[in-house]
Amino acid sequence: YKEKNRPQFHFTTRRGWINDPNGLIYYEGEYHLFYQHNPFERDWENMHWGHAVSKDLIHWTELPDALYPDHLGTMFSGSAVIDYDNTAGFNKGKTPAMVAAFTAASSDRQVQGIAYSLDKGRTFTKYDKNPVINSKEKWNSQDTRDPKVFWYAPSKHWVLVLNERDGHSIYTSSNLKDWKYESHVTGFWECPELFELPVDGDKNHTKWVMYGATGTYMLGSFDGKVFTPEAGKYCYTTGSIYAAQTFTNIPASDGRRIQIGWGRISHPGMPFNGMMMLPTELTLRTTKDGIRLVNVPVKEVESLCKPLRSWKSLSSDEANRHLKEFYDADCLRIKTTIKLSHATDAGFNLFGQRMIGYDMNSNTLNGRFYSPQDPTSMELSADIYIDRTSIEVFIDGGLYSYSMERRPDTNNREGLH
Ligand code: FRU
Repeated sequence: YKEKNRPQFHFTTRRGWINDPNGLIYYEGEYHLFYQHNPFERDWENMHWGHAVSKDLIHWTELPDALYPDHLGTMFSGSAVIDYDNTAGFNKGKTPAMVAAFTAASSDRQVQGIAYSLDKGRTFTKYDKNPVINSKEKWNSQDTRDPKVFWYAPSKHWVLVLNERDGHSIYTSSNLKDWKYESHVTGFWECPELFELPVDGDKNHTKWVMYGATGTYMLGSFDGKVFTPEAGKYCYTTGSIYAAQTFTNIPASDGRRIQIGWGRISHPGMPFNGMMMLPTELTLRTTKDGIRLVNVPVKEVESLCKPLRSWKSLSSDEANRHLKEFYDADCLRIKTTIKLSHATDAGFNLFGQRMIGYDMNSNTLNGRFYSPQDPTSMELSADIYIDRTSIEVFIDGGLYSYSMERRPDTNNREGLH
């Protein structure tokens, strides 16, 4: 963590390339982060599943790679579950198997396989009858990948969501080995997610969220076999983030839907490349436009922050003067509310970099349409996390968020205007 371009409060690998988070799962006091890993180069190639564990979602310990390429291909993205009821028959005594579902990618096709671990994800054994899904011919497409598996309690079966050609397919199984195709929703690319969330915290009023790698999502209902879209697509986050996944097996006493996304951030001159963005909590909230997905950093992130300065009612000139203190900051979190007076646009720059550019007239925020809850409000609030190579901005309590590379421009010392 001493290298110049090593993120200080985001996960990076010791060496090599990383992309998507995989197999996010909580088990026996540990959060597991598996991820797309090329252990040998700074570029994408030769995919393995890397592995790291954490007790608090913030401090990670990197372990040896968990899944290696095999005769079916390299290890593309997927997910993990705990098979408490021994449906697959991999359990040993009282130890339930952690079962990973992954894509094996070859030059010819992408097939789905499973592997199990009886030692908390430290070592995996591949199922000897892989692949469990081989759907290239059905779709006349080589793009069949990224299985996301979860237990559907009402009908007591497994569900696997798979990106196939032009959208997300749903498969079901009683044993994680034999999968039946059920349905398909077009309009998504890569890294499927499907989960249920209470609306405004009301457990009796829920919606299902389906998303793909880009941060666009639909809201709808799900009966265990078919996802029926009701609203969307909407977009809750943009920028450097891609291929986010949520944790399975979070204890009911916690109940959060926690997500981690890949940060497409380059790390010049480093022995590693890419990073994970901050873990965030997803909730559904009723807004003036209807129900929307809200995304905020998990509360554990607070433990990283020490209050330093705070001011109220500054003019932009005064704010600029105060910000000079932070021109050379290493890592920083800034909470700010920008209030416009007799202007229709405002912004926030630091290190010469534009972090917020808000135009109230065209209703754009950093170039994307954003309409605040009170459309006549002259205020915009932001919670900004700045690490050595990345910037994450959470607007108005997480109603919208975006991320970018940190690219200081030393010639531009302009601050607020
Ligand atoms: C998304 C993705 C996945 C695939 C993986 C390969 O970034 O293209 O669809 O499984 O990366 O590394």
